[in-house]
Formats: sequence, C-alpha cells, structure tokens
Amino acid sequence: MILVTNNEGTVGAPTTAHMLAEGAQALDAIEAGIRLIEADPSVRTVGRGGWPNLLGEMELDASVMDGTTLRTGAIGALQGFLHPVSVARAIMQHLPHEFLVGEGAARFAREIGAETADNLTEDSCRVWRKWFDTEVPAEVKRAWPDTPLAALCRHAIDPEVGRDTTVFLAQDAAGDVCTGTSTSGWGWKYPGRLGDSPIIGAGSYADTRYGAAACTGAGEMTIRCGTARCVVLYMKQGASVGDAVHEAVNDMRALKGGLISRVTIHAIDTSGNHKVIAVNGAGDNKYWLWEGKGEPRLMPAEPVVISSVETRATPAARYASR
Ligand code: GLY
Repeated sequence: MILVTNNEGTVGAPTTAHMLAEGAQALDAIEAGIRLIEADPSVRTVGRGGWPNLLGEMELDASVMDGTTLRTGAIGALQGFLHPVSVARAIMQHLPHEFLVGEGAARFAREIGAETADNLTEDSCRVWRKWFDTEVPAEVKRAWPDTPLAALCRHAIDPEVGRDTTVFLAQDAAGDVCTGTSTSGWGWKYPGRLGDSPIIGAGSYADTRYGAAACTGAGEMTIRCGTARCVVLYMKQGASVGDAVHEAVNDMRALKGGLISRVTIHAIDTSGNHKVIAVNGAGDNKYWLWEGKGEPRLMPAEPVVISSVETRATPAARYASR
C-alpha cells in the first residue's frame, strides 16, 4: 500500500491513510481525503476558499481515475457545489460519459443531489475586490463585465506560487491503483479556463498494472505534454518510476512558447516505489508519503530546473496584507 499526496493534501492525508490501513478501496479513501480539503476554507486553491476567476466567480475542477477498470470521472468549471470530486466520481458511476463541464456539469450535480455551496469566501472576495479596485482600468470597470478580459490574464496567479490543486495517488491492500484531483485552478483565470486537473492523461492517470501519476502547477504545460499518461506509459515500457518521471520532465524541455512555469509530477508504481519531481520549483516543494504503516510523512520533492521562470507576487500576496 502507498499514498502520495501533495502539500495541499495535508488535511486529507491522515484520513485517506487510515482508511487504506483499514482495507478501504483506494478510490473511497481518496475521495474521503479530498472532500476534507474541498470543504476547508484555509486551503486557498481547492474548493471552498480557493481563488476566483477574473470575474470573481468560483469555477472548480476535479477528477478521479480507477486504474483497474480505467474508468474516469472528471468535472470542469463547476459552479455552486461543495464537493467537485464526488460529482466527478458520480459521473463514473452513473453516466456513460467521462467528463462534464460548465452548465451541464452543474445540471448533473443538481440531478444527483450534490451539496450546494457558495465557494467564494469573504476573504477571497475581499482580495479579488481589492485587485479589481486597484488594477482594473476605469474604462474597463465602466463596461464590466461586458468587456474584453484577455489583457487581464496577466494577473493570473502563478499556480505553484499560489500552491494550487490537490492530487492523491494510492494503491490499496487489494492492489488497486487510483488517483483523484481537485482545484479551483489558477486564480484570476480567464472564465472557462480548464487546467490539467480534470484532464485525464495530463493532470492524472492510473493503471493498476503499472502505477499512477498526477501533477500540480501549470496545467498548461502538462496538457501540452500529456504528462501523467506518459509517466505511466514509460513505466509500461519498462522504466522505473524514477526514470519515468525524469523522462516526462525531459519531454517538457521541448516546450516552446506559451506558459512555462512550475509543475510538480508525483508518481507511484505497483511495488511501493514513488518519485516526486518539482520542475522549475522553488526548492521548498513538499509532499506527503504514507507507505502502509504509521502516519503520513512530509517529504521534500526533488527539484529539477528546465528553464528560468518569472517569479512574481500573486494578486493574493499583493493584496492580502493591505
Ligand atoms: N494544475 C492545476 C491547474 O493548472 O489548474
């Protein structure tokens, strides 16, 4: 048995580990852990308490994958519900589809009686409002919200600085390997922007025959590389979990143009091994590891620099202290 979750998984990791220790199925344990994070307003990049988009609206993304059936459930730009991870899982359980977004996703969530919530907390609203008051030009404010937003995307929060997303990767006592993700995505993102968290193959992938991978950070990079699927494919081709993650990092060296920022790749194999690499990370990137006994331990990720990235204060950092 093994559990790997990123630093954002702090409030969920013990529950997931205890459930796995008691024989729970990996997906049940992952969902339970992620639900705690989604409901915790102190986790600023997942669920309630996360950062809103440019319009000040909360749009949440989540996914699950069962590596034994290769079924997935993913939800994108979901508004108004507390537990996107459970809505994602319900897609897997109740629909012949794998991925719902926007209005259709919300419709489905209502249909299954998912718990509703106003995920924009007072503090996130205050920080967004300060940004709006301070940074948005007067003529844009006058036309708001019927105004071009593209130029404002430069204010989007660097996801790794913003500490975005939670990812869980686990193998249970029966050997099943599963993944789960949940995020509010980039703060100040263009409305409708999906990162990699709900995109199976980019932000997560699980296959009980080989292992699993899941990513945090700039989803734009892992979408372009199909990172999570590649890590598992490299393991299928015979690479160790460490070599597989390094090869996926090498894939990123081919990226030209677009957003080049920070990504952390988390991976496990089916023999209890794991690897976590922080690409372009600040060097203080941590993750939780549980290896079948005791409590989860906080571990340092291996830093690898593939290019220099711009480091800048996030809107949250700039306005939170004022
Ligand atoms: N990795 C999360 C995102 O890009 O939104």
